[in-house]
Amino acid sequence: MTYKLPFLKTFDAPVKVLFTGYLTAVALGYFFALIQILFTHGMADGKFGLSVDDIVYSYYGNRSGTVLETKLNGSMKDKAIENERFKMIQWARDGAEESDYVSIGVKKIIDNKCVMCHNEGASGIPDFTKFENVKELTHQDEGATFASLTRVSHIHLFGISFIFMFVGLIFSFSETSTVKYKCIAIGMPYIFLVVDILSWWLTKLNPIFAWLVIFAGGGMAIAFGFMLLISLLEMWFYNKVFINAAGERYIQWSVYIESQLKKLDCETTRCFVNKLAYFSKKGAIFIWKQGLVRGFYFIKSFKKNK
Ligand code: HEC
Repeated sequence: MTYKLPFLKTFDAPVKVLFTGYLTAVALGYFFALIQILFTHGMADGKFGLSVDDIVYSYYGNRSGTVLETKLNGSMKDKAIENERFKMIQWARDGAEESDYVSIGVKKIIDNKCVMCHNEGASGIPDFTKFENVKELTHQDEGATFASLTRVSHIHLFGISFIFMFVGLIFSFSETSTVKYKCIAIGMPYIFLVVDILSWWLTKLNPIFAWLVIFAGGGMAIAFGFMLLISLLEMWFYNKVFINAAGERYIQWSVYIESQLKKLDCETTRCFVNKLAYFSKKGAIFIWKQGLVRGFYFIKSFKKNK
C-alpha cells in the first residue's frame, strides 16, 4: 500500500472553499442545535442551563406530577403568573374534572394565556381549545414517549452520521496528527452518537443514566470541535501555525503529547486509552456545564427582556 492521501494544505483553493463552507455551515448548525437544546431540555426544570435534572425530566419524566405540572414548572413557567399556575396544577392533581374546568376558572386562564399558541393552527403542540387535549396532559409525567424517542433516534442516527461522514473525511486529509489520533478523533463521534441515543432510552428506563447523555453529547462536541479546528488551520494557516521561523515543521503535537504521556509512565495503549477516557470525561462534563450555564447567560437575559 503506497497510496497516500493528499494533505489539506495541498488542495486547490476551490476545494478548500468547499470544505470550509461545509465546515462553517455545520458549525453554525451545531451552535443553533445547542441553543435549541437550551430552550427545550434546558428549561425542563424551570431553570436556565442544562443540568442532570433537565435530562431526567425530559426522558424519564417528573413522576411525582402530571405533564401539565412539569411544563408549568418548566418551559411554560413564564406563560402564566404564579396563582394561575397553582390553580391549573391543583386542578390537574384533583383529577382534572371537566365540571371544575370551567367553574374554578382553569378554562379562562388557558383561553387567555395559552390558546394563542396552543390552538388548531399550531403544529406539533397540543390544541387547548379542546378539553380532551388538556385532559390528556393531566396523567403522570413519564417523560419522552417511546414514539417520540423512536422518531428522534432515527433522525439523529441518520442525520448526524452524515454530518460526521464529511467532517471526518475532510479531517482524514490532515497531516499534523498521527494516525492513532486521527482514528480516535474520527471514530469518537460515532461511538458517542450511539452511546448518546442509547443513553436516552436508558434514561427513559432509569434516571441514573442521565449523566451518560451529557457525557456522550460533550464527547461528540469535543471531537467535532477538534476536527473542525485542525482542518481549518491546516487549510488556511498551515505556514503560520505549523511551521516555525526557521521554516521547519514544529514537532507533531500528538508526538509531543505522547512523549508527555510517556513521562507520566504511560507506555501502553491501554493505559493511554484509560487516561484519555478519564480526561475527556472530566473535560466534557466541565466544558458542557460551564459553557452552557455561564457562556449563554446573555441568551437568558435576552429571553427575559422579550
Ligand atoms: C408563546 C407560545 C406558547 C404559549 C403562550 C404557551 N405555550 Fe405551551 N408550548 C409551546 C411550545 C412551542 C411547546 C413545545 C415545546 C416545549 O415542550 O417546551 C409547548 C408545550 C407545552 C406542553 C407540552 C405538550 C406536550 O405534548 O408535551 C404543555 C403541557 C404546555 N405547553 C402547556 C401550556 C400552558 C398550560 C400554557 C398557558 C399557561 C402554555 N403552554 C402557553 C408554546 C406556548
